[in-house]
Amino acid sequence: MRISLWSRVLAGSGAVALAGAAAVNGTDREVKAPEAVTWASHVAPIIRSRCEECHRPGSIAPMSLTNYDEVKKVARQVKQRVQSRTMPPWHIDKTVGIQEFKNDRSLTDAEIKTIGDWVDGGMAMGDAKDLPPAATWPDPKLWQLAGSMGGQPDLVVKSKPYTLAPKGQDKWWRPQVDVPITEPRWVRAIEVKPSYPMGRRVVHHVLTSLEQPEKGITNLASSAEHAEHGGPMSAGLFMEWALGKVGEVFNADAGKLLLPGAKIRWEVHYYAIGEEVPNDEVELGIWLYPKGYTPKYRTILNFWNVAAGSELDIPPGQKTMTQNFVVLRAPARLENFQPHMHMRGKAMMMEAVYPDGKREVLSHVNNFQWNWHVNYIYKDEAAPVLPKGTTLVFTAWHDNTAQNPNNPDPEQWVGWGDRTVDEMAHAWVDVTYLEQADFDRIVAERKKAKESRAATSSP
Ligand code: HEC
Repeated sequence: MRISLWSRVLAGSGAVALAGAAAVNGTDREVKAPEAVTWASHVAPIIRSRCEECHRPGSIAPMSLTNYDEVKKVARQVKQRVQSRTMPPWHIDKTVGIQEFKNDRSLTDAEIKTIGDWVDGGMAMGDAKDLPPAATWPDPKLWQLAGSMGGQPDLVVKSKPYTLAPKGQDKWWRPQVDVPITEPRWVRAIEVKPSYPMGRRVVHHVLTSLEQPEKGITNLASSAEHAEHGGPMSAGLFMEWALGKVGEVFNADAGKLLLPGAKIRWEVHYYAIGEEVPNDEVELGIWLYPKGYTPKYRTILNFWNVAAGSELDIPPGQKTMTQNFVVLRAPARLENFQPHMHMRGKAMMMEAVYPDGKREVLSHVNNFQWNWHVNYIYKDEAAPVLPKGTTLVFTAWHDNTAQNPNNPDPEQWVGWGDRTVDEMAHAWVDVTYLEQADFDRIVAERKKAKESRAATSSP
C-alpha cells in the first residue's frame, strides 16, 4: 500500500509536466483554433472569480492580478502555478474520496487548459467590450460574516497587543483572555480577523482554544463519546484560522457551547516581514444563538494526532509514512478535513473502516503545501455520516528528499516540534456526534435520495 500510494502521488506531478510539454508541441504544429483564446473573453473571467480575491491591492497575495498588464507580466508563473495545482490553493486529490465541498475554489481541467493555451498562444487581449464586469470586494476592516449573519458579532474577544520585531524566527503569542458571558450560550458562527493592513501580512495562523469548567454537562449527544473514556468532556479548540480562511458557520442544528468563566487561550503564529509591527491584535467575532436556545448538537473541533513526539522520525533524504487510528464511540457526522504538517509534509489521507470491515477513502490531500492550511468543508449532503465503531485511519507522508521543493535542508534528521523546520502531523476535524435515531434517519434519507437520483437518470 505504501508503494502504490507514493507512486500515485509521484505519477500525479509527472503527469502535470507531461501535459505542459504536450501543449507546447501542440501549438508548434498548430492548425488555428476556430476561436483564439483571449484575455477579455476567456481568461479574465477565470482570474477574476478564482484569483482576484487574494491577488488585489490590500489582500494577502504578493502581487495583484486584476487586469491584463498585471497578469501578462507574470504569465509564466501563473501557468506554472495553475498547472501544478498549487494555485488557487486547493490541494486535494480530485480522483478519490468526497468531492463536494462548500468552499471549493479549484479550477476545472478546462479552465487550466484555457490559461495554458492563452499563455502559450501569445496572450491576446481580445475585445475590451467582452471583459467581465469589475468585481466588488468586501472591506477587509469589517466583519465578513456580518452580511450573512444579519449583523455585527454579539461578542468580540481580542488577543492582547503584541509587537513583532522586523526580523527573527517565527513567533508564537499565547495570551489568555476572558469571554464576557454570565450564562451558558451557544455559538452559531465564529470569525477571526487579523488587523488591517499589517496583521494580514504577518499573521500566519491562529488557534483559539476554549477553556471552561465542563463538569456536569451531560445532556448532549457528544457526551456519549467521552462517557466511555470516563473522563470529563473537553471543549477543545474553538476555532482554527489561517490565510485565506474567514470563519466558521455551524450547521443549523449545531453549535459550540460557551460557559460562564470561559477563557480563550490564543496561539497566534507570527512571521517577520522586515518592518516592525507594533501592538498587533487579532479579533475573534462570535455570533450567538438567541438566549435560552439550545441547538440539537454540539460540534467539537477535534485535533487528531497522526504522529506526535518520538513517533515522528524522518531521516535525512527519506520519505516516511505514519499512521494512526481513532475509533468513533458514537455515530458521528464529520464536517470537514484539514491536514496540518510543516515543510516536509507531502500528503495526508483520512479513511473510514466501517464496523463491517468495508474500507473507504474519505479525503486525500495529495499535494499538501505547508504554508496553506486549507480546510476542506464538506457540503451538508456529502459530509460523511459514520456509525458507532467506525475506525478512522489517518495516514501522513513526509518527504525529506532534495526532490521536495519545499524542503529547507534534506540533510537534517527531522522530528516533532513547533517550528516550521520541525515536523507535525495531525488532522483537524469538526465532529458532530449524533443520537442513534438521527443517524438512522440521515442514512435512510440519503439512501432514498440516491435511489430517486438513480431512477431519474436511468432511461
Ligand atoms: C486564497 C488566496 C489566494 C487565491 C484564491 C489565489 N492565490 Fe495565488 N497566492 C496567494 C498567496 C498568499 C501567495 C504567496 C504564497 C504562496 O506562494 O503560496 C500566492 C502566490 C501566487 C503565485 C506566485 C507568486 C510568486 O511571487 O512566486 C502565483 C503565480 C499565483 N499565486 C497565482 C494565482 C492564480 C493564477 C490564482 C487563481 C487561478 C491564484 N493565485 C489564487 C493567495 C491566493
